[in-house]
Amino acid sequence: MHAEFPIARPRRLRATAAMRRLVAHTSVQPADLVQPMFVKEGIDEPQPVRSMPGVVQHTRDSLRKAAAEAVDAGVGGLILFGIPARKDARGSAADSPAGIVQLALGDLAADLGDKTVLMADLCLDEYTDHGHCGILTEAGEVDNDATLERYASIAVAQALAGAHVVAPSGMMDGQVAAIRAALDGAGFPQVAICAYAAKYASAFYGPFRDAAECAPKFGDRSTYQQDPSNPAEALREVELDISEGADIVMIKPALAYLDIIALVARSVRVPVAAYQVSGEYSMIEAAAASGWLDRDRVITETLTAIKRSGAGIILTYWATEFASKLG
Ligand code: PBG
Repeated sequence: MHAEFPIARPRRLRATAAMRRLVAHTSVQPADLVQPMFVKEGIDEPQPVRSMPGVVQHTRDSLRKAAAEAVDAGVGGLILFGIPARKDARGSAADSPAGIVQLALGDLAADLGDKTVLMADLCLDEYTDHGHCGILTEAGEVDNDATLERYASIAVAQALAGAHVVAPSGMMDGQVAAIRAALDGAGFPQVAICAYAAKYASAFYGPFRDAAECAPKFGDRSTYQQDPSNPAEALREVELDISEGADIVMIKPALAYLDIIALVARSVRVPVAAYQVSGEYSMIEAAAASGWLDRDRVITETLTAIKRSGAGIILTYWATEFASKLG
């Protein structure tokens, strides 16, 4: 039966796969994706991460192999996280030329050159024995300005080792300015800064703390990471980071913060990145393993949603897989 008057029929544009493809607005490209990778000092075999099925802590050798695969699959970049054999109060391994991330960056720079974008997470929590992202005062609080000196030194060590981009994730005030000055002063004006600009104090980082062995030994990160209830604060953090010299700004986590990504993307003129974090990954892997979700479709749907919200760059643990088979 026909309607008595013509009605709008948006379904015309959904009739076939070819039509849907023609009118699709958002598509995630392999080159949009950055693969996070963990490399651990002092292990002979890659170690599975219990709470992140499919993710491992790499040896230097297994990292080289996985990095080459990621680049062959077409990912846009790699971001490295290091887990040192020994930790101390000031995170000495973070800026030591013999620190695990510096060695791994050197390996990948030699193997891959400028074929990919080599990024290094720049923080102290993986390297400190107390698990906080900075230097502590005697009272056990994170000392902002003492931490900036450490970040400056880590940035130079990572640049020397071959990083194209450093990604400060500690949420200290003034960290981008301190790092930019240090990089320029050490002769690395070309090394870019991807600032974790709006990083929320999130329970979705839980599995990462297994992977990077960096759960705080006391307290939490809510005096430096943002309160999940605040959107305007994200804009303030982003504006400050850009004024201090951030080349790319990142929002983290992604799926629970799509409104923040959209808000930031509308207001800035630099590339916007989003980090689909460990808890987002593990939640979907666990549901898929129970047969409760269609894994591949959910991966594609979440990445599409993150891109649609305004992030041109997405850090995701599925980067290589998506680039090689889903993209
Ligand atoms: C800090 C850092 C964290 C993540 C990236 N960088 C952990 C934290 O802030 O507690 C989380 C990433 C993830 O959950 O996948 N170096």
